[in-house]
Amino acid sequence: MSDELLARIRVHGEVPRHVAIIMDGNGRWARERVMPRPFGHRAGMQSVRDVVEGAIAVGLEHLSLFAFSQENWQRPLTEVSALMSLLEEYIAREADELQAQGVRVLIHGDLARLTAPAAAAVARVTRQTAACTTLTLHLFISYGGRAELVRAARAVAADVSSGALALEDVNEDAIRVRLYTGETPDPDLLIRTSGEQRLSNFLLWQLAYTELVLSPVLWPDFRRAQLFEAILDYQARDRRFGRVTA
Ligand code: FPP
Repeated sequence: MSDELLARIRVHGEVPRHVAIIMDGNGRWARERVMPRPFGHRAGMQSVRDVVEGAIAVGLEHLSLFAFSQENWQRPLTEVSALMSLLEEYIAREADELQAQGVRVLIHGDLARLTAPAAAAVARVTRQTAACTTLTLHLFISYGGRAELVRAARAVAADVSSGALALEDVNEDAIRVRLYTGETPDPDLLIRTSGEQRLSNFLLWQLAYTELVLSPVLWPDFRRAQLFEAILDYQARDRRFGRVTA
């Protein structure tokens, strides 16, 4: 089924360069099975693996995944610890494979809050995959969109006060290059799973003109076929960026 969808994407035309995903519904998936929430997060790790492979197959340049928000630190300690351990496990299990597939991994967020082993794993996978060029996988961990904007605003203010940046040169580009995503093109498509219809403080600046696909599928059930369906939906859109079509 996914091969057929991939073939349809190819004939449809332009493939998005950058897809971002809010991976939601792990807790509900676990509850449906009368299992604790971390069981759903673990199952969600398989979806990450399959979707990364799908992203490579379709030829995306960038895939951004919202794995852990700043607000998620307020979840019960057992769940936070399980998510930190899963991050370590994901990196330990997948780093070699990601490197072999040509996936460069970048991790964005307030990484000072990570546990020491999770921070070490993040540093290791970033270093190991630094030269990969097939796909860039952006993992957002301990991330909030408003905090990212505050961080960029502070960097602008510091550069203005040191004289490195003139006040007249404070423009959209000056903010953009100081975001975690730097020179990465904005997402063309944002997918949110599990039927929720919110941005939840994800990539607030970068999503300004992004097309949205809201999937009812819970993240642990999301596979490359659902990614391909979302891309086909995107390909049927008329992107005007606030302008009118000729
Ligand atoms: C949202 O579901 C999901 C998360 C908070 C965590 C996402 C983590 C993974 C997919 C696994 C680890 C991935 C990597 C890359 C290490 P939720 O818990 O809010 O679900 P609910 O809305 O049904 O309660």
